[in-house]
Amino acid sequence: MRIAVIVGAKGRGSNMRAIVEACQGGRFPTPVEAVVIGPSEDAPALRTAASFGVTTVVPDDMEGELLGVLQAHNIDLVCLAGYMRLIPKDVVAAFDGRMLNIHPALLPKHGGKGMWGMRVHQAVLDAGDKTSGCTVHYVSERYDEGDVLLQIACDVLPDDTPETLAARVLELEHEAYVLAIHLWIERVYIRKAST
Ligand code: GRF
Repeated sequence: MRIAVIVGAKGRGSNMRAIVEACQGGRFPTPVEAVVIGPSEDAPALRTAASFGVTTVVPDDMEGELLGVLQAHNIDLVCLAGYMRLIPKDVVAAFDGRMLNIHPALLPKHGGKGMWGMRVHQAVLDAGDKTSGCTVHYVSERYDEGDVLLQIACDVLPDDTPETLAARVLELEHEAYVLAIHLWIERVYIRKAST
């Protein structure tokens, strides 16, 4: 099985790293090879991926070439990890049910265009929520609106700042993304292979 992790231009790549480590550590129910795709050679996440010995791809025209890159690499599952732009409609359609994203809050709360990074955690604190967490969901043509595959919740503490909450949620993200991929492999990939 082959996963493409799509990272953003500025992202740290910590979710990408968690996914790659799980692939290389044989933690999934089937052997999985990862390919990391990003919009710029300078993306920190791409450099990290290369240091793990993972194939990296930087298309000249990210949106125009993405579908061809995914097909050329025989990708079964796409995982967005810090990629902030909308995925082109043709790619969403071709990977319907085979493309995941992670969001640092409990969707449907605190999602949508512009809701990323510290803004999400600030919104959770402003709303007075007692619980936050992260969501792994299928990708649709709209930001953060696809069906939810898996969520992990955590407490919001009385003295939390956006930064302390973000750090707590980020640890959960790494766990959630690996668990969600595990679940997807069992529910979709293996089931399909056995029919
Ligand atoms: C994460 O908070 C994720 O939820 C969001 O973008 C951030 C990426 O972080 N979609 P990293 O690059 O994986 O560390």
